[in-house]
Amino acid sequence: MSATNRNENGVEERPTRKDIEETASFLKKQTSDRPKLAIICGSGLGGLADIVEDRINIPYKDVPGFPVSTVAGHTGQLVFGKLSGKSVVLMQGRAHVYEGVPIWKVAIPIRVLQVFGVKTIFVTNAAGGINRDFSVGDIMVISDHVNIAGFAGANPLVGLNDDSFGPRFPAMSDAYDPDLMQLAKKVGHELGLDSILRQGVYSFLVGPSFETIAECRLLKTLGVDATGMSTVPEVVTARHCGMRVFGLSLITNKCVMEYNMREKANHEEVLETGKKRAKDLQNLVSKMVASIDGI
Ligand code: HPA
Repeated sequence: MSATNRNENGVEERPTRKDIEETASFLKKQTSDRPKLAIICGSGLGGLADIVEDRINIPYKDVPGFPVSTVAGHTGQLVFGKLSGKSVVLMQGRAHVYEGVPIWKVAIPIRVLQVFGVKTIFVTNAAGGINRDFSVGDIMVISDHVNIAGFAGANPLVGLNDDSFGPRFPAMSDAYDPDLMQLAKKVGHELGLDSILRQGVYSFLVGPSFETIAECRLLKTLGVDATGMSTVPEVVTARHCGMRVFGLSLITNKCVMEYNMREKANHEEVLETGKKRAKDLQNLVSKMVASIDGI
């Protein structure tokens, strides 16, 4: 995939299937691992990589066509190795639309991983709690999403459709795999996490500014439980090309919904909560991985 894939108007072109295949082949030359599961580690959740064994790290900047993240808390590399004895690839960090990366480009790694042979994606993120019953440090299993940014045209599938990846109009009514949601509940229970394990709807706004009070109130009326600035581009792309998806949000802060509250969302709190809950998240994900057949 060429680094500057620009047309005569200076607009960056989407990579073709051939470009994606070339990047997948590049990765196959770096490792003999052939994982069927990929895990995207969100803000402050990259610590999962610490428990991966026999690691091979490949920085995004070395992978042709991969977007590179510039955010604190996002390392920016692929980590191949073994988790619970199973072959996995982690995306330690991700690019975001708010960094100025085109939404289709944010999702390029998903297509590369699909061509590489990955069948299932776990997505994790840090999110603000909209649901008033949620506390900071809760872990929410994502049951559905609202692509708020999509209401204004931000969808990674906008543009010519490549039928070799998936249909022009893919369904999203079954985006999050019910069996994996069920498994998360079971494993969470076994780990004694019942009191912090939640389930709910995630919404995607581009950011980087956190939400206003009026926006948080709106999200609540829309049935949103937690909101963030990522995940949906990857999930839409993964479902389009037939991958199975499971998602977790770590509730790093409570969204401010009252005008007399003094608290404000901030990125440091997001990273701090990530650190505190890292162990629980790692245990949940690694025990789930151990329990999934066929990966
Ligand atoms: N809003 C949006 N994104 C976030 C938040 C939030 O409150 N917390 C962590 N990511």
